[in-house]
Amino acid sequence: MQDVIIAYAGKYGTTEEIAGRIKAELTAIAEQSADRLRELQITCLPLRALSAQQVQHSRMLVLGGAIYAGRLPRALRSFCERHRTVLLSRAVGLFSTCLYQDEQARDQLISAYPPWLFAHAAATASLGGRLDLGRLSAVDRLLIKRFAEVHENLDRIDNQRISSFAGELFATLKRK
Ligand SMILES: Cc1cc2nc3c(=O)[nH]c(=O)nc-3n(C[C@H](O)[C@H](O)[C@H](O)COP(=O)(O)O)c2cc1C
Repeated sequence: MQDVIIAYAGKYGTTEEIAGRIKAELTAIAEQSADRLRELQITCLPLRALSAQQVQHSRMLVLGGAIYAGRLPRALRSFCERHRTVLLSRAVGLFSTCLYQDEQARDQLISAYPPWLFAHAAATASLGGRLDLGRLSAVDRLLIKRFAEVHENLDRIDNQRISSFAGELFATLKRK
């Protein structure tokens, strides 16, 4: 049985980086624990590499995706529907990466995940994001400049929220 799996879906690397930071924070908290959670096994991997067997054998699943035009990547949305039964029988954490902040980011997070999964999740968070215009595909760059009126690189990764999200995940594991 794997303790925690963090699976992420994003195009330009920020979601992967944030997933790695969640793993690092959770590891650091677990190492300070005096009980069995000291030896917590955490796997962080892209959603496309996650097997059905890994899902079946995990104690907690943490799913994260970047928001593009208000939505999570299709692969993540269809993963949730495909694994509905098993997700509802596991501890679940959900996060998004995005450029919106505060209430707008929260509203976007709530509408991005299926309501049944959001209601079931033990911890949910919008963790900020980053945009490097030079790395975007031509189409995405055009969309961002024209519709979001973003004309410069932005870094809105929310380190404090990443720490508190990891803390909430750990508290959930402790209760199990
Ligand atoms: C084409 C495109 C559309 C986006 N749409 C939104 C959006 O609707 N809301 C938002 O808050 N951020 C939006 N973003 C920002 C991304 O969610 C943010 O840059 C995120 O950190 C990207 O993660 P990634 O590097 O893993 O792809 C968009 C970015 C791109 C490239």
